[in-house]
Amino acid sequence: MDYTKFYSDRVKPMKGSAIREMFKRMADPQIISLAGGNPASELFPGEELSKISEKILREKPAQALQYGTTDGLPAMKECAIKRAKKVDAYTEGDSVIIMTGANQGIDLTAKALINKGDKIIVESPSFIGSLNAFRTYECELVGVEVEADGMNIEALEKALAENDGVKMIYTIPTFQNPTGTTMPLSKRQKLIELANKYDVLVLEDNPYGDLRFSGEEVPTLKSLDTEGRVIYAGSFSKILSPGMRLGYIIGAEELLTKIEILKQVNDVHTPVLTQMMCVEFMEKYDIDEYIEKNRELYGRKCSAMLEAMDEYFPKGKVKWTVPEGGIFMWCECPDVSDISVLVDKALEKKVAIVPGSNFAIDINEPSNKFRLNYSSATIEKITEGIKRLGEALEEI
Ligand SMILES: Cc1ncc(COP(=O)(O)O)c(C=O)c1O
Repeated sequence: MDYTKFYSDRVKPMKGSAIREMFKRMADPQIISLAGGNPASELFPGEELSKISEKILREKPAQALQYGTTDGLPAMKECAIKRAKKVDAYTEGDSVIIMTGANQGIDLTAKALINKGDKIIVESPSFIGSLNAFRTYECELVGVEVEADGMNIEALEKALAENDGVKMIYTIPTFQNPTGTTMPLSKRQKLIELANKYDVLVLEDNPYGDLRFSGEEVPTLKSLDTEGRVIYAGSFSKILSPGMRLGYIIGAEELLTKIEILKQVNDVHTPVLTQMMCVEFMEKYDIDEYIEKNRELYGRKCSAMLEAMDEYFPKGKVKWTVPEGGIFMWCECPDVSDISVLVDKALEKKVAIVPGSNFAIDINEPSNKFRLNYSSATIEKITEGIKRLGEALEEI
């Protein structure tokens, strides 16, 4: 049967995430994946969470298995506020909604704000999940180039000046996905100034902010906002567990009231059980200690990847970013016109990487860039994966 005639115009042009597609091809256990965005599963607090979930289900089944409130359990909202306060992303009077992952917060924020044809400024490249969410609402994505230190602010100013009626700037200012870059304070101040001047909202997506392993902390955009323009999206995916699907958004009450209505019709509420598990985990254990272990491990994995790249990549053929935290780095092959040749060659050698076009505003434009992830594979696999990728680079 041909279903295409039934599709809405909205979904017809949409393509799924190539990263998720790649997961399917990666069923082969011999494949070394430097492709996904998974945190290091070797550090998951499985024992602790197993005891906690058992206790909750034994002692509080009536609460854990019942419907919950749309904006989240009060104790879970306190957990989110506690995390946000560490980076000054919560101001007294702000509203908080617990989301089923930050992804849902981004999607519902977009749903609340975007009309067909609206213009949204995004970093180019940017996180495919958010770009696809925005695309669903049939807006025009205006890309602003990402440099070694985040969004090019002159280009942002130009985009705002040349595009009437931009509604929102979406940015991942710290350890950006996919580039791993971080915007310094001066750029952040300028971004807020521009948002005020051109009267636009800002969606600050910060799932990696806690994962710094070198350099100095930089204030969040939310902490610099004096006009209630920044909506802040946080996540427990990279600091506890992505499978628990716990994220949150923080922002002006009026705005979040609308977003909460959209969540009511979307999934009613985020699972109560995982919220209760997170609350109990944060009461019983020191989550910062757990995050510190992650930071330390990611620092070591990142160094191992950089060392292997120095050793195995053909000299002068690849340029890459050096992240101070997070889980990604971004590589460019100036002499290559279409990176899919390298992606296929790497897969023949059983290494998975993600082509840059996946993170582009125009996914059909050939790219000479690719993204590498260092959080998920072991150090041995990272080294072996980069060695094989170096061979693939030599051969193309
Ligand atoms: C930049 C960015 N934002 C949001 C998310 C989604 O996070 P969550 O698991 O909380 O939905 C991701 C996940 O990879 C991400 O990279």
